[in-house]
Amino acid sequence: MSLSIPNSRAQSRTRSSRAFEAPITPLDGVHPVFHDGRVAVITGAACGIGQAAAVELAKLGLKIAIADVDEAGLAETAKLVSDIIGQSNLLVIPTDVSKKEQVENLRDKVYEAWAEVAVLVNNAGIGPIGKSWEGLDNWHKVFDVNVFGVLNVQQIFVSSMLPQENPSVIINTGSKQGITNPPGNAAYNASKAAVKSLTESLSHELRNLPYANVTAHLFVPGWTWSGLTGSKTGAERHPGTWTASETVLYMLDKVRRGQFYIICPDNETRTEVDQLRIMWAAGDVAEGRPALSRWHKDYKSLFEEYVKDGLESLD
Ligand SMILES: NC(=O)c1ccc[n+]([C@@H]2O[C@H](COP(=O)([O-])OP(=O)(O)OC[C@H]3O[C@@H](n4cnc5c(N)ncnc54)[C@H](O)[C@@H]3O)[C@@H](O)[C@H]2O)c1
Repeated sequence: MSLSIPNSRAQSRTRSSRAFEAPITPLDGVHPVFHDGRVAVITGAACGIGQAAAVELAKLGLKIAIADVDEAGLAETAKLVSDIIGQSNLLVIPTDVSKKEQVENLRDKVYEAWAEVAVLVNNAGIGPIGKSWEGLDNWHKVFDVNVFGVLNVQQIFVSSMLPQENPSVIINTGSKQGITNPPGNAAYNASKAAVKSLTESLSHELRNLPYANVTAHLFVPGWTWSGLTGSKTGAERHPGTWTASETVLYMLDKVRRGQFYIICPDNETRTEVDQLRIMWAAGDVAEGRPALSRWHKDYKSLFEEYVKDGLESLD
C-alpha cells in the first residue's frame, strides 16, 4: 500500500499559494491575545527565534518579559525591545529554564508586575550531539533544557494562566527533527519528539476542561538562521534559511488563526515537501518498513519517487 499525500489537491493549492506568495501576514493588533497592553513571556530570548519573538510582539504593543541564561544576549534583546516599547514595559529576568525555582521566580516577577500572561513562548533549546549508544551526559543536558525546561515553564505558568479572565496561549517550540527523526542527533530528536507529545497532551487536556481560556500550540520552525544554526559564527546567512523574524511572523499568524501544528517552511523546504516527509515517516510504522527508511539504502529511491509523485500530483 502506498500513502497518499495528506491534503486534497484543492487544499494543498490554497496552502501552497499562501505559503509562497505571501507567507507573512501582518497582524492587525486587534486579536484578544496579540493585543496592545497584554503580556508576553519569552524564554530563550537572548538570541535567534526567541529574540525575534520578543521584538515582533513588542511591535504589536505587548509588554515583554525576556528570560535566558545568556545575560549579554538578554541585554542585546532588551535594547531592541525597549527601543520599541520603552523600559517600563520590559522585564529582563535571567533564568535557567531547567531550574524549577528560577522558573518560579520568573513567573512571580511577571505576575507581580503585570498580573497576567497572554503569550507564553516556551522556546529555550539546545542541541549538543548525543548518539544513541553514547554521549549520555549530553542526553541529560539536552533533556534538562529541551524537555524538563519546557515542562517547568508549562507546569509553573499554565496553572497561573488558567484562572485569567482573558484568553491566553502557550507556544512550545518543537522541531521537524522530533517528527521525522533524521539521523545525526538522536538526543535532540528524542527531546523534540517529547515536546511534540507533551504539547499534544496539554492541548487535549486544556480543551477538555469545563472552562479554559488557554490554548496550546506546537511551533515547529523550519531551517532558521539563529545561534543554533550558525548566526553567532560571523558567517553569512545561509540562503536556505529563513530569518528568525520570518519564522516568528509565520508562527504568530498561525497561532492567531487558532492552528495547533505550526510547521514552518523555509527557503529550501516548501510546505508540501514537509507534509510528504511526515507522511512517509508515519508510513514506516503503518507499513512495517525499516526504521528511518527515508535514509535506508533499499528505500531511499522509493522515498524520492514518493515525494516526486506527490508534488507532481499537485501541479
Ligand atoms: N534555528 C532552527 O533552524 C530551529 C529549527 C527547529 C527548532 N528550533 C528550536 O527553536 C528554539 C530556539 O532556538 P534558536 O534556533 O533561536 O537558537 P538560539 O541558540 O539562537 O536560541 C536559543 C536560546 O535559548 C537559550 N537557552 C539555552 N539554554 C537555556 C536555558 N537552560 N534556560 C534559558 N535559556 C536557555 C540560549 O542561551 C539561546 O539564547 C529552540 O528550541 C530550537 O530547538 C530551531
